[in-house]
Amino acid sequence: MQATVTAQHSAVSAEDDRALAAVFSAYTVSATCWLLFATAVGLLLAFKFGAPDFWAAKYLTFGRLRPIHTNDTFYGWASIGLVGLAYYVAARSSGTKLYSIKLAWIGLALFNLAAVAGTIALELGYNWGDLEYREWPWPIRLVFLAALLVTGWNLIGTVARRTTEDIYLSNWYTVCGVLWTCVIAIVATLPWYQHGLGQVAISGFYMHNAVGMWFTPLALGVFYYAIPKILSRPIYSYALGVFAFWTNLLFYPLLGGHHFLFSPLPWWLQTTAIVFSVAMLVPVWGGSANYLLTMRGRYRDMTHSYPLMFIFVAVIGYLFGSTQGTVEAFRSMQAIWHLTNFTVGHSHLTMYGFVTFAVWGGIYALLPLATHKSPGRLGIALHFWMALVGSFIYVIALSIGGTIQGLDWLHQRPFIQSVTDMAPYWVWRGAGGLLMFLSHIVFAWNVWRMTSGQTGNAGSPILARTEGAAA
Ligand code: HEM
Ligand code: HEM
Repeated sequence: MQATVTAQHSAVSAEDDRALAAVFSAYTVSATCWLLFATAVGLLLAFKFGAPDFWAAKYLTFGRLRPIHTNDTFYGWASIGLVGLAYYVAARSSGTKLYSIKLAWIGLALFNLAAVAGTIALELGYNWGDLEYREWPWPIRLVFLAALLVTGWNLIGTVARRTTEDIYLSNWYTVCGVLWTCVIAIVATLPWYQHGLGQVAISGFYMHNAVGMWFTPLALGVFYYAIPKILSRPIYSYALGVFAFWTNLLFYPLLGGHHFLFSPLPWWLQTTAIVFSVAMLVPVWGGSANYLLTMRGRYRDMTHSYPLMFIFVAVIGYLFGSTQGTVEAFRSMQAIWHLTNFTVGHSHLTMYGFVTFAVWGGIYALLPLATHKSPGRLGIALHFWMALVGSFIYVIALSIGGTIQGLDWLHQRPFIQSVTDMAPYWVWRGAGGLLMFLSHIVFAWNVWRMTSGQTGNAGSPILARTEGAAA
Protein backbone atom coordinates (compact mmCIF):
# COMPACT_ATOMS: atom_id res chain seq x y z
CA MET A 1 0.00 0.00 0.00
CA GLN A 2 1.22 3.49 -0.67
CA ALA A 3 2.13 5.65 2.32
CA THR A 4 1.50 9.07 0.86
CA VAL A 5 -1.00 11.03 -1.14
CA THR A 6 0.66 10.78 -4.53
CA ALA A 7 -2.00 11.60 -7.08
CA GLN A 8 -0.80 11.74 -10.66
CA HIS A 9 -2.89 14.03 -12.76
CA SER A 10 -1.53 12.96 -16.13
CA ALA A 11 -4.48 10.65 -16.80
CA VAL A 12 -6.97 13.41 -16.05
CA SER A 13 -8.01 16.14 -18.49
CA ALA A 14 -9.17 19.65 -17.58
CA GLU A 15 -12.68 18.61 -18.59
CA ASP A 16 -12.57 15.67 -16.14
CA ASP A 17 -11.42 18.07 -13.44
CA ARG A 18 -14.33 20.40 -14.12
CA ALA A 19 -16.83 17.54 -14.06
CA LEU A 20 -15.44 16.30 -10.74
CA ALA A 21 -15.56 19.83 -9.29
CA ALA A 22 -19.21 20.16 -10.41
CA VAL A 23 -20.11 16.86 -8.70
CA PHE A 24 -18.24 17.76 -5.50
CA SER A 25 -19.87 21.23 -5.47
CA ALA A 26 -23.37 19.85 -6.05
CA TYR A 27 -23.02 17.31 -3.22
CA THR A 28 -21.72 20.05 -0.91
CA VAL A 29 -24.50 22.53 -1.79
CA SER A 30 -27.14 19.84 -1.41
CA ALA A 31 -25.74 18.71 1.97
CA THR A 32 -25.62 22.33 3.14
CA CYS A 33 -29.33 22.82 2.34
CA TRP A 34 -30.12 19.75 4.44
CA LEU A 35 -27.92 21.02 7.28
CA LEU A 36 -29.81 24.32 7.32
CA PHE A 37 -33.21 22.67 7.22
CA ALA A 38 -32.50 19.86 9.69
CA THR A 39 -30.85 22.09 12.27
CA ALA A 40 -33.60 24.74 11.99
CA VAL A 41 -35.88 21.87 13.02
CA GLY A 42 -33.38 20.90 15.78
CA LEU A 43 -33.45 24.46 17.10
CA LEU A 44 -37.24 24.48 17.17
CA LEU A 45 -37.15 21.16 19.05
CA ALA A 46 -34.66 22.60 21.54
CA PHE A 47 -36.99 25.51 22.33
CA LYS A 48 -39.96 23.19 22.64
CA PHE A 49 -38.34 21.81 25.80
CA GLY A 50 -38.82 25.21 27.44
CA ALA A 51 -42.15 26.00 25.77
CA PRO A 52 -43.87 22.71 24.88
CA ASP A 53 -47.02 24.48 23.66
CA PHE A 54 -45.14 26.65 21.21
CA TRP A 55 -46.24 25.76 17.65
CA ALA A 56 -48.02 22.65 18.87
CA ALA A 57 -50.08 22.23 15.68
CA LYS A 58 -50.33 18.65 14.36
CA TYR A 59 -47.51 19.05 11.83
CA LEU A 60 -45.20 20.70 14.33
CA THR A 61 -45.39 18.24 17.19
CA PHE A 62 -42.19 16.98 18.81
CA GLY A 63 -42.97 13.39 17.76
CA ARG A 64 -43.01 14.28 14.06
CA LEU A 65 -40.17 16.79 14.07
CA ARG A 66 -37.61 14.81 16.09
CA PRO A 67 -37.14 11.98 13.56
CA ILE A 68 -37.11 14.59 10.78
CA HIS A 69 -34.17 16.27 12.56
CA THR A 70 -32.25 13.04 13.15
CA ASN A 71 -32.86 11.45 9.74
CA ASP A 72 -32.13 14.64 7.81
CA THR A 73 -28.91 15.39 9.70
CA PHE A 74 -27.87 11.76 9.12
CA TYR A 75 -28.98 11.05 5.57
CA GLY A 76 -29.30 14.55 4.14
CA TRP A 77 -26.42 16.48 5.69
CA ALA A 78 -23.70 14.06 6.84
CA SER A 79 -24.22 11.31 4.23
CA ILE A 80 -24.39 13.54 1.17
CA GLY A 81 -21.53 15.74 2.43
CA LEU A 82 -19.29 12.72 3.06
CA VAL A 83 -20.08 11.03 -0.27
CA GLY A 84 -19.16 14.24 -2.15
CA LEU A 85 -15.84 14.25 -0.30
CA ALA A 86 -15.31 10.51 -0.88
CA TYR A 87 -15.67 11.00 -4.66
CA TYR A 88 -13.10 13.78 -4.70
CA VAL A 89 -10.67 11.84 -2.51
CA ALA A 90 -11.10 8.60 -4.51
CA ALA A 91 -10.44 10.29 -7.85
CA ARG A 92 -7.52 12.43 -6.66
CA SER A 93 -5.73 9.84 -4.55
CA SER A 94 -6.10 7.27 -7.35
CA GLY A 95 -4.72 9.73 -9.94
CA THR A 96 -7.67 9.12 -12.23
CA LYS A 97 -11.02 10.55 -13.21
CA LEU A 98 -14.28 9.56 -11.59
CA TYR A 99 -15.49 6.21 -12.97
CA SER A 100 -18.87 7.70 -13.93
CA ILE A 101 -19.98 11.30 -13.58
CA LYS A 102 -23.48 10.23 -14.59
CA LEU A 103 -23.72 7.68 -11.76
CA ALA A 104 -22.57 10.35 -9.30
CA TRP A 105 -25.47 12.59 -10.37
CA ILE A 106 -27.92 9.68 -10.23
CA GLY A 107 -26.69 8.88 -6.71
CA LEU A 108 -27.19 12.50 -5.65
CA ALA A 109 -30.72 12.48 -7.05
CA LEU A 110 -31.49 9.24 -5.18
CA PHE A 111 -30.07 10.52 -1.86
CA ASN A 112 -32.19 13.66 -2.19
CA LEU A 113 -35.28 11.78 -3.31
CA ALA A 114 -35.04 9.54 -0.23
CA ALA A 115 -34.53 12.50 2.13
CA VAL A 116 -37.39 14.55 0.63
CA ALA A 117 -39.79 11.59 0.56
CA GLY A 118 -38.74 10.54 4.08
CA THR A 119 -39.30 14.05 5.43
CA ILE A 120 -42.74 14.33 3.84
CA ALA A 121 -43.73 10.87 5.09
CA LEU A 122 -42.67 11.65 8.67
CA GLU A 123 -44.37 15.03 8.53
CA LEU A 124 -47.61 13.37 7.42
CA GLY A 125 -47.34 10.87 10.25
CA TYR A 126 -46.15 7.83 8.22
CA ASN A 127 -43.50 6.41 10.49
CA TRP A 128 -42.01 2.91 10.40
CA GLY A 129 -42.21 2.77 14.18
CA ASP A 130 -39.89 3.44 17.07
CA LEU A 131 -36.86 2.14 15.17
CA GLU A 132 -34.34 4.87 15.71
CA TYR A 133 -32.69 6.29 12.56
CA ARG A 134 -34.82 4.07 10.33
CA GLU A 135 -38.20 5.71 10.86
CA TRP A 136 -38.65 6.33 7.12
CA PRO A 137 -41.19 3.86 5.61
CA TRP A 138 -39.27 0.90 4.14
CA PRO A 139 -39.80 1.71 0.42
CA ILE A 140 -38.01 5.01 1.05
CA ARG A 141 -35.20 3.19 2.81
CA LEU A 142 -34.81 1.12 -0.36
CA VAL A 143 -34.27 4.34 -2.35
CA PHE A 144 -31.49 5.23 0.09
CA LEU A 145 -30.06 1.73 -0.36
CA ALA A 146 -30.11 2.24 -4.15
CA ALA A 147 -28.14 5.48 -3.66
CA LEU A 148 -25.59 3.55 -1.59
CA LEU A 149 -25.22 0.83 -4.22
CA VAL A 150 -24.70 3.40 -6.97
CA THR A 151 -22.11 5.17 -4.82
CA GLY A 152 -20.30 1.94 -3.94
CA TRP A 153 -20.15 0.90 -7.60
CA ASN A 154 -18.82 4.29 -8.67
CA LEU A 155 -16.17 4.42 -5.94
CA ILE A 156 -14.96 0.88 -6.65
CA GLY A 157 -14.86 1.64 -10.40
CA THR A 158 -12.77 4.75 -9.70
CA VAL A 159 -10.30 3.00 -7.42
CA ALA A 160 -10.05 0.07 -9.85
CA ARG A 161 -8.88 2.49 -12.58
CA ARG A 162 -6.17 4.04 -10.42
CA THR A 163 -2.85 5.00 -11.96
CA THR A 164 -1.10 4.49 -8.62
CA GLU A 165 0.16 1.05 -7.70
CA ASP A 166 -1.60 0.74 -4.36
CA ILE A 167 -4.99 1.68 -3.01
CA TYR A 168 -4.56 4.76 -0.83
CA LEU A 169 -5.68 4.25 2.79
CA SER A 170 -8.56 6.75 2.57
CA ASN A 171 -10.22 4.57 -0.06
CA TRP A 172 -10.10 1.50 2.16
CA TYR A 173 -12.14 3.41 4.69
CA THR A 174 -14.60 5.04 2.30
CA VAL A 175 -15.20 2.13 -0.09
CA CYS A 176 -15.61 -0.35 2.75
CA GLY A 177 -17.80 2.09 4.66
CA VAL A 178 -20.22 2.15 1.74
CA LEU A 179 -20.16 -1.65 1.33
CA TRP A 180 -20.69 -2.33 5.05
CA THR A 181 -23.57 0.12 5.10
CA CYS A 182 -25.27 -1.69 2.21
CA VAL A 183 -25.20 -4.87 4.32
CA ILE A 184 -26.44 -3.01 7.42
CA ALA A 185 -29.24 -1.29 5.45
CA ILE A 186 -30.38 -4.63 3.96
CA VAL A 187 -30.40 -6.40 7.35
CA ALA A 188 -32.32 -3.48 8.86
CA THR A 189 -34.99 -3.62 6.15
CA LEU A 190 -35.59 -7.40 5.90
CA PRO A 191 -39.09 -8.02 7.29
CA TRP A 192 -38.48 -11.22 9.29
CA TYR A 193 -36.43 -9.54 12.05
CA GLN A 194 -38.94 -6.79 12.69
CA HIS A 195 -40.80 -8.18 15.68
CA GLY A 196 -40.18 -9.02 19.32
CA LEU A 197 -36.68 -9.22 20.77
CA GLY A 198 -35.15 -9.85 17.33
CA GLN A 199 -36.25 -6.36 16.40
CA VAL A 200 -34.56 -4.94 19.49
CA ALA A 201 -31.28 -6.70 18.69
CA ILE A 202 -31.41 -5.50 15.08
CA SER A 203 -32.18 -1.97 16.25
CA GLY A 204 -29.03 -1.93 18.38
CA PHE A 205 -27.06 -3.43 15.49
CA TYR A 206 -28.40 -0.80 13.07
CA MET A 207 -28.12 2.26 15.34
CA HIS A 208 -24.51 1.89 16.23
CA ASN A 209 -23.40 0.53 12.89
CA ALA A 210 -25.00 3.49 11.15
CA VAL A 211 -22.64 5.72 13.12
CA GLY A 212 -19.70 3.31 13.40
CA MET A 213 -19.60 1.70 9.96
CA TRP A 214 -20.95 4.56 7.87
CA PHE A 215 -20.16 8.04 9.22
CA THR A 216 -17.02 6.99 11.10
CA PRO A 217 -15.06 5.30 8.28
CA LEU A 218 -16.06 7.96 5.76
CA ALA A 219 -14.94 10.76 8.09
CA LEU A 220 -11.70 8.89 8.94
CA GLY A 221 -11.05 8.45 5.22
CA VAL A 222 -11.31 12.23 4.82
CA PHE A 223 -8.76 12.73 7.66
CA TYR A 224 -6.24 10.41 5.96
CA TYR A 225 -6.37 12.50 2.80
CA ALA A 226 -6.94 16.03 4.07
CA ILE A 227 -4.38 16.15 6.92
CA PRO A 228 -1.38 15.11 4.77
CA LYS A 229 -2.65 17.36 2.00
CA ILE A 230 -2.92 20.49 4.16
CA LEU A 231 0.42 19.84 5.88
CA SER A 232 2.24 18.57 2.78
CA ARG A 233 3.70 15.68 4.75
CA PRO A 234 2.99 11.94 4.94
CA ILE A 235 0.74 10.43 7.57
CA TYR A 236 2.64 9.39 10.69
CA SER A 237 2.15 5.64 10.27
CA TYR A 238 0.46 3.90 7.40
CA ALA A 239 0.61 0.58 9.28
CA LEU A 240 -1.22 2.07 12.25
CA GLY A 241 -3.93 3.30 9.86
CA VAL A 242 -4.35 -0.23 8.47
CA PHE A 243 -4.38 -1.68 11.99
CA ALA A 244 -7.10 0.78 13.07
CA PHE A 245 -9.10 -0.10 9.94
CA TRP A 246 -9.17 -3.83 10.68
CA THR A 247 -9.77 -3.47 14.41
CA ASN A 248 -12.64 -1.06 13.70
CA LEU A 249 -14.15 -3.74 11.47
CA LEU A 250 -13.54 -6.44 14.06
CA PHE A 251 -15.00 -4.67 17.11
CA TYR A 252 -17.70 -2.25 15.92
CA PRO A 253 -20.36 -4.64 14.52
CA LEU A 254 -20.81 -6.39 17.87
CA LEU A 255 -21.32 -3.49 20.26
CA GLY A 256 -24.87 -2.37 19.36
CA GLY A 257 -26.33 -4.31 22.29
CA HIS A 258 -25.02 -1.57 24.64
CA HIS A 259 -28.11 0.47 23.68
CA PHE A 260 -30.26 -2.12 25.40
CA LEU A 261 -28.50 -2.96 28.65
CA PHE A 262 -30.91 -4.18 31.37
CA SER A 263 -33.42 -5.11 28.62
CA PRO A 264 -34.76 -8.68 28.12
CA LEU A 265 -31.99 -9.32 25.55
CA PRO A 266 -29.79 -12.24 26.70
CA TRP A 267 -27.38 -11.13 29.43
CA TRP A 268 -24.40 -12.66 27.57
CA LEU A 269 -25.24 -10.55 24.49
CA GLN A 270 -25.27 -7.39 26.60
CA THR A 271 -21.94 -8.38 28.20
CA THR A 272 -20.44 -9.06 24.76
CA ALA A 273 -21.51 -5.57 23.68
CA ILE A 274 -19.76 -4.06 26.72
CA VAL A 275 -16.56 -6.03 26.06
CA PHE A 276 -16.48 -4.88 22.42
CA SER A 277 -17.24 -1.29 23.51
CA VAL A 278 -14.04 -1.43 25.57
CA ALA A 279 -12.12 -3.07 22.72
CA MET A 280 -13.07 -0.09 20.53
CA LEU A 281 -10.47 1.92 22.45
CA VAL A 282 -7.86 0.15 20.29
CA PRO A 283 -8.86 1.61 16.89
CA VAL A 284 -10.03 4.89 18.43
CA TRP A 285 -6.81 5.62 20.32
CA GLY A 286 -4.62 4.13 17.56
CA GLY A 287 -6.34 6.17 14.84
CA SER A 288 -6.41 9.39 16.88
CA ALA A 289 -2.72 9.04 17.78
CA ASN A 290 -1.95 8.63 14.08
CA TYR A 291 -3.72 11.90 13.16
CA LEU A 292 -2.28 13.86 16.08
CA LEU A 293 1.24 12.57 15.42
CA THR A 294 0.89 13.54 11.76
CA MET A 295 0.27 17.09 13.00
CA ARG A 296 3.21 16.93 15.46
CA GLY A 297 5.43 19.99 15.46
CA ARG A 298 2.97 21.84 13.23
CA TYR A 299 0.40 22.92 15.81
CA ARG A 300 1.42 26.55 15.43
CA ASP A 301 0.42 26.32 11.77
CA MET A 302 -3.14 25.84 12.93
CA THR A 303 -3.39 29.53 13.68
CA HIS A 304 -2.95 30.08 9.92
CA SER A 305 -5.26 27.30 8.82
CA TYR A 306 -8.92 27.10 9.70
CA PRO A 307 -9.37 23.91 7.62
CA LEU A 308 -6.77 22.30 9.91
CA MET A 309 -8.49 23.70 13.00
CA PHE A 310 -11.80 22.17 11.91
CA ILE A 311 -10.08 18.83 11.38
CA PHE A 312 -8.21 19.07 14.69
CA VAL A 313 -11.52 19.63 16.54
CA ALA A 314 -13.00 16.67 14.64
CA VAL A 315 -10.11 14.40 15.70
CA ILE A 316 -10.53 15.48 19.32
CA GLY A 317 -14.32 14.98 18.98
CA TYR A 318 -13.66 11.44 17.71
CA LEU A 319 -11.20 10.68 20.51
CA PHE A 320 -13.22 12.15 23.39
CA GLY A 321 -16.67 11.18 22.08
CA SER A 322 -15.75 7.55 21.47
CA THR A 323 -13.86 7.23 24.76
CA GLN A 324 -16.89 8.71 26.49
CA GLY A 325 -18.98 6.05 24.69
CA THR A 326 -16.80 3.29 26.16
CA VAL A 327 -17.27 4.68 29.68
CA GLU A 328 -21.01 5.08 29.02
CA ALA A 329 -21.30 1.42 28.05
CA PHE A 330 -20.50 0.02 31.52
CA ARG A 331 -23.55 -1.21 33.42
CA SER A 332 -22.70 0.99 36.42
CA MET A 333 -22.69 4.08 34.17
CA GLN A 334 -25.73 3.03 32.15
CA ALA A 335 -27.65 2.82 35.45
CA ILE A 336 -27.24 6.61 35.66
CA TRP A 337 -27.13 7.80 32.05
CA HIS A 338 -29.43 5.51 30.03
CA LEU A 339 -32.42 7.40 28.55
CA THR A 340 -31.17 10.71 29.97
CA ASN A 341 -30.06 13.82 28.11
CA PHE A 342 -26.44 12.75 28.72
CA THR A 343 -26.83 10.45 25.70
CA VAL A 344 -28.12 13.35 23.58
CA GLY A 345 -24.93 15.18 24.62
CA HIS A 346 -22.85 12.17 23.50
CA SER A 347 -24.75 12.05 20.17
CA HIS A 348 -23.87 15.67 19.47
CA LEU A 349 -20.29 15.40 20.73
CA THR A 350 -19.80 12.62 18.17
CA MET A 351 -22.13 13.46 15.28
CA TYR A 352 -21.40 17.18 15.57
CA GLY A 353 -17.99 17.49 17.27
CA PHE A 354 -16.53 14.65 15.20
CA VAL A 355 -18.52 13.96 12.01
CA THR A 356 -19.87 17.44 11.23
CA PHE A 357 -16.53 19.15 11.95
CA ALA A 358 -14.81 16.50 9.78
CA VAL A 359 -17.15 17.27 6.87
CA TRP A 360 -16.51 21.00 7.29
CA GLY A 361 -12.73 20.50 7.57
CA GLY A 362 -12.77 18.31 4.45
CA ILE A 363 -14.85 20.81 2.48
CA TYR A 364 -12.70 23.81 3.47
CA ALA A 365 -9.52 21.84 2.71
CA LEU A 366 -10.56 20.28 -0.58
CA LEU A 367 -13.39 22.22 -2.25
CA PRO A 368 -11.16 25.27 -2.97
CA LEU A 369 -8.69 22.90 -4.68
CA ALA A 370 -11.50 21.63 -6.92
CA THR A 371 -13.22 24.93 -7.74
CA HIS A 372 -10.23 27.32 -7.32
CA LYS A 373 -12.43 29.56 -5.18
CA SER A 374 -12.01 30.35 -1.47
CA PRO A 375 -14.27 31.49 1.32
CA GLY A 376 -13.55 34.79 3.06
CA ARG A 377 -11.21 34.79 6.10
CA LEU A 378 -13.85 36.41 8.31
CA GLY A 379 -16.57 33.99 7.17
CA ILE A 380 -14.54 30.88 7.93
CA ALA A 381 -13.41 32.30 11.33
CA LEU A 382 -17.00 33.20 12.30
CA HIS A 383 -18.22 29.77 11.29
CA PHE A 384 -15.52 28.01 13.30
CA TRP A 385 -15.86 29.94 16.53
CA MET A 386 -19.67 30.05 16.62
CA ALA A 387 -19.92 26.32 15.89
CA LEU A 388 -17.21 25.46 18.43
CA VAL A 389 -18.54 27.62 21.28
CA GLY A 390 -22.17 26.69 20.51
CA SER A 391 -21.51 22.95 20.50
CA PHE A 392 -19.36 23.25 23.63
CA ILE A 393 -22.27 24.88 25.49
CA TYR A 394 -24.68 22.29 24.06
CA VAL A 395 -22.64 19.26 25.10
CA ILE A 396 -21.50 20.52 28.53
CA ALA A 397 -25.05 21.61 29.48
CA LEU A 398 -26.56 18.24 28.57
CA SER A 399 -23.73 16.26 30.15
CA ILE A 400 -24.18 18.00 33.52
CA GLY A 401 -28.00 18.18 33.29
CA GLY A 402 -28.27 14.56 32.07
CA THR A 403 -26.20 13.32 35.02
CA ILE A 404 -28.42 15.19 37.50
CA GLN A 405 -31.49 13.82 35.71
CA GLY A 406 -30.13 10.26 35.96
CA LEU A 407 -29.28 10.64 39.66
CA ASP A 408 -32.81 11.93 40.33
CA TRP A 409 -34.24 8.79 38.75
CA LEU A 410 -31.74 6.55 40.51
CA HIS A 411 -32.74 8.03 43.88
CA GLN A 412 -36.39 7.55 42.94
CA ARG A 413 -37.26 11.23 43.34
CA PRO A 414 -40.59 12.32 41.80
CA PHE A 415 -40.23 12.45 37.99
CA ILE A 416 -41.26 16.11 37.88
CA GLN A 417 -38.20 16.98 39.98
CA SER A 418 -35.93 15.71 37.19
CA VAL A 419 -37.84 17.93 34.74
CA THR A 420 -37.43 20.99 36.98
CA ASP A 421 -33.74 20.20 37.51
CA MET A 422 -33.16 19.91 33.74
CA ALA A 423 -34.96 23.18 32.87
CA PRO A 424 -31.93 25.56 33.05
CA TYR A 425 -29.77 23.10 31.13
CA TRP A 426 -32.34 22.97 28.31
CA VAL A 427 -32.20 26.76 28.12
CA TRP A 428 -28.39 26.57 27.83
CA ARG A 429 -28.77 23.91 25.12
CA GLY A 430 -31.09 26.30 23.25
CA ALA A 431 -28.49 29.09 23.52
CA GLY A 432 -25.71 26.79 22.26
CA GLY A 433 -28.01 25.51 19.51
CA LEU A 434 -28.76 29.05 18.37
CA LEU A 435 -25.03 29.78 17.96
CA MET A 436 -24.58 26.50 16.09
CA PHE A 437 -27.46 27.32 13.75
CA LEU A 438 -26.12 30.83 13.07
CA SER A 439 -22.76 29.28 12.20
CA HIS A 440 -24.51 27.10 9.62
CA ILE A 441 -25.88 30.19 7.88
CA VAL A 442 -22.32 31.54 7.67
CA PHE A 443 -21.16 28.15 6.38
CA ALA A 444 -23.81 28.31 3.64
CA TRP A 445 -22.44 31.72 2.67
CA ASN A 446 -18.90 30.28 2.58
CA VAL A 447 -20.06 27.39 0.38
CA TRP A 448 -21.64 29.90 -1.97
CA ARG A 449 -18.29 31.68 -2.28
CA MET A 450 -16.41 28.41 -2.87
CA THR A 451 -18.84 27.37 -5.63
CA SER A 452 -20.94 29.91 -7.54
CA GLY A 453 -20.24 33.22 -5.80
CA GLN A 454 -17.32 35.60 -5.80
CA THR A 455 -14.14 34.07 -4.38
CA GLY A 456 -12.99 35.23 -0.92
CA ASN A 457 -9.60 36.08 0.59
CA ALA A 458 -8.90 32.95 2.71
CA GLY A 459 -6.15 31.79 0.32
CA SER A 460 -4.94 28.25 -0.37
CA PRO A 461 -5.78 25.63 2.26
CA ILE A 462 -2.38 24.01 1.67
CA LEU A 463 0.38 25.08 4.05
CA ALA A 464 4.05 25.38 3.09
CA ARG A 465 5.66 22.05 2.21
CA THR A 466 8.00 20.37 4.68
CA GLU A 467 9.43 16.88 4.19
CA GLY A 468 8.16 14.17 1.77
CA ALA A 469 4.77 13.46 0.29
CA ALA A 470 1.61 14.92 -1.05
CA ALA A 471 1.03 15.89 -4.62
C1 HEM B 1 -15.89 3.50 21.02
C2 HEM B 1 -16.86 4.07 20.44
C3 HEM B 1 -18.21 4.31 21.03
C4 HEM B 1 -18.87 3.67 22.07
C5 HEM B 1 -18.37 2.52 22.90
C6 HEM B 1 -20.17 4.29 22.19
C7 HEM B 1 -21.12 3.95 23.15
C8 HEM B 1 -22.38 4.47 23.23
C9 HEM B 1 -23.34 4.21 24.28
C10 HEM B 1 -23.08 3.30 25.48
C11 HEM B 1 -24.47 4.89 23.99
C12 HEM B 1 -25.67 5.06 24.90
C13 HEM B 1 -26.74 4.10 24.77
C14 HEM B 1 -27.88 4.48 25.69
O1 HEM B 1 -27.68 4.91 26.84
O2 HEM B 1 -29.00 4.31 25.24
C15 HEM B 1 -24.27 5.57 22.73
C16 HEM B 1 -25.21 6.34 22.08
C17 HEM B 1 -24.97 6.96 20.87
N1 HEM B 1 -23.76 7.05 20.20
FE1 HEM B 1 -22.02 6.24 20.76
N2 HEM B 1 -20.28 5.28 21.27
C18 HEM B 1 -19.11 5.32 20.53
C19 HEM B 1 -18.82 6.15 19.47
C20 HEM B 1 -19.75 6.89 18.79
C21 HEM B 1 -19.49 7.61 17.57
C22 HEM B 1 -18.13 7.70 16.88
C23 HEM B 1 -20.67 8.14 17.18
C24 HEM B 1 -20.99 8.98 15.97
C25 HEM B 1 -20.27 9.01 14.89
C26 HEM B 1 -21.68 7.78 18.16
C27 HEM B 1 -23.02 8.13 18.12
C28 HEM B 1 -23.96 7.79 19.06
C29 HEM B 1 -25.35 8.16 18.96
C30 HEM B 1 -26.00 8.97 17.83
C31 HEM B 1 -25.99 7.65 20.10
C32 HEM B 1 -27.45 7.80 20.47
C33 HEM B 1 -28.19 6.61 20.08
C34 HEM B 1 -29.63 6.70 20.49
O3 HEM B 1 -30.39 7.30 19.73
O4 HEM B 1 -29.97 6.21 21.56
N3 HEM B 1 -21.08 7.02 19.13
N4 HEM B 1 -22.97 5.32 22.31
C1 HEM C 1 -28.29 23.75 15.60
C2 HEM C 1 -27.84 22.53 15.81
C3 HEM C 1 -28.64 21.46 16.48
C4 HEM C 1 -29.61 21.53 17.42
C5 HEM C 1 -30.17 22.78 18.09
C6 HEM C 1 -30.04 20.18 17.73
C7 HEM C 1 -31.05 19.86 18.62
C8 HEM C 1 -31.51 18.60 18.89
C9 HEM C 1 -32.59 18.26 19.78
C10 HEM C 1 -33.42 19.27 20.56
C11 HEM C 1 -32.74 16.92 19.80
C12 HEM C 1 -33.77 16.11 20.58
C13 HEM C 1 -33.19 15.63 21.87
C14 HEM C 1 -34.12 14.82 22.72
O1 HEM C 1 -34.97 14.07 22.21
O2 HEM C 1 -34.01 14.91 23.95
C15 HEM C 1 -31.71 16.39 18.94
C16 HEM C 1 -31.48 15.04 18.73
C17 HEM C 1 -30.50 14.54 17.92
N1 HEM C 1 -29.70 15.28 17.04
FE1 HEM C 1 -29.50 17.30 17.01
N2 HEM C 1 -29.31 19.31 16.97
C18 HEM C 1 -28.45 20.04 16.18
C19 HEM C 1 -27.55 19.55 15.25
C20 HEM C 1 -27.39 18.20 14.95
C21 HEM C 1 -26.52 17.67 13.95
C22 HEM C 1 -25.69 18.51 12.94
C23 HEM C 1 -26.60 16.31 14.03
C24 HEM C 1 -25.90 15.24 13.22
C25 HEM C 1 -25.02 15.43 12.29
C26 HEM C 1 -27.54 15.98 15.08
C27 HEM C 1 -27.90 14.70 15.47
C28 HEM C 1 -28.85 14.40 16.41
C29 HEM C 1 -29.09 13.06 16.90
C30 HEM C 1 -28.37 11.80 16.50
C31 HEM C 1 -30.13 13.15 17.84
C32 HEM C 1 -30.74 11.99 18.66
C33 HEM C 1 -30.04 12.00 19.99
C34 HEM C 1 -30.30 10.82 20.89
O3 HEM C 1 -31.36 10.19 20.81
O4 HEM C 1 -29.43 10.50 21.72
N3 HEM C 1 -28.01 17.16 15.60
N4 HEM C 1 -30.97 17.42 18.39
